[in-house]
Amino acid sequence: MARRNILTKEDPALYKKCRPVTEFNPRLHQLLDDMKETLSQENGVGLAAPQVGVLRRVVIVLETNVPEGEEEYMIELVNPEIIESSGEQFGAEGCLSVPEEYGLVRRPMHVKVRAQDRNGESFEVEGEGLTARCFCHEIDHLEGIIFTSKCERMLTKEELESGDFEEE
Ligand code: NI
Repeated sequence: MARRNILTKEDPALYKKCRPVTEFNPRLHQLLDDMKETLSQENGVGLAAPQVGVLRRVVIVLETNVPEGEEEYMIELVNPEIIESSGEQFGAEGCLSVPEEYGLVRRPMHVKVRAQDRNGESFEVEGEGLTARCFCHEIDHLEGIIFTSKCERMLTKEELESGDFEEE
């Protein structure tokens, strides 16, 4: 596994629509392994392939909603799509490609995602709260969408640190 460089928001690759994965081969497995290594080194909660310069529909999401005492784990999603969403949350969001900037984004509270695993097997996975936010944010990346374009407003560092920002 190797850490890959993360593109930042100036890079045009981040604004392109990504193509589906059609071959579930060692090259895809390497990409997934490298993305997981990169995400873990960056202490992020999600990463999309275009952020490492690969314009394919691949994302990694960290599941942080785990029972007390259990380890958080990464979910590999190939060709993911949101098939159900409900509820609403409004809160702070950031992105490894937009370092040091945070903004308020409205997202569903709950989503169900259909995707394929690294071998092409279909599965469904649900996410709540931060995990739902993360699924939405990463799948947006595959459409060339960065969270700043969905932000109702950016937050200052002070607001972020104090957690003191107005709901609506
Ligand atoms: Ni991002």
